[in-house]
Amino acid sequence: MEKERKLLIAGNWKMNKTVAEALDLVQGLRRELAAIKEVDIVVCPPFTVLCEVSKAILDSNLRLGAQNMSENSSGAYTGEVAAGMLKEFSVRYVILGHSERRQYQKEADALIAKKALTALASSLKPIVCVGETLAEREGGNTEKVVGMQVKGSLAGISKEQMGEVVIAYEPVWAIGTGKTATTEQAQAVHAFIRKTVASLYDDATARRVRILYGGSVKPGNTRELMSQPDVDGALVGGAALEIRSFSDIVKNSI
Ligand code: PGA
Repeated sequence: MEKERKLLIAGNWKMNKTVAEALDLVQGLRRELAAIKEVDIVVCPPFTVLCEVSKAILDSNLRLGAQNMSENSSGAYTGEVAAGMLKEFSVRYVILGHSERRQYQKEADALIAKKALTALASSLKPIVCVGETLAEREGGNTEKVVGMQVKGSLAGISKEQMGEVVIAYEPVWAIGTGKTATTEQAQAVHAFIRKTVASLYDDATARRVRILYGGSVKPGNTRELMSQPDVDGALVGGAALEIRSFSDIVKNSI
């Protein structure tokens, strides 16, 4: 089935890869994926290798993303990285509000919304992450939690700006655990997120927004997940660290 939205597969490398390892990985991906035009392919390495990776993917179909950024544009914020600094390395996307940052850095929806607005003001496309914990799912609160995260993390973003926003649904219980949401579970929450975007904006905006699935995506489960009508791509963690698995995920998504 032809989707009206272009698929996007992003690799979230998290806190992995030295410069040498990163270059090995992107050179391999560049070789393996050179012919792919149907999918937007994004790699999100740690800040320390953005410079080298940026040079290594020049004139290729790979795009660069970061894993986080500051809500401020410059100044006395020790340890932070600003959107303008990312732009220097041709970064196009930035993951915001990943569940690991929500958990370990206590990032809340209001901060994530501020970061998203700062990213958009610098022409970076935010990949805004949402997702429920196992306790929240088992308590029957998935829609309540995800709905609040979507509304809170998009606060202040205009209808026009939504054209640049990507949403990633990542059930916390499926991240790095080997437990993938079933295709039915993923589709149900994706459809709910799209409905929420429609209620916040309008139907046309909801139809346009890309909603990625994340949580133990592997070459073997990609095809089934991507066949769901409201799944528009994937945010891949562990399987994005190897040439073979990430390039197979991209190829299997088509
Ligand atoms: P995983 O991570 O693919 O290793 O489950 C996904 C993510 O956290 O973005």
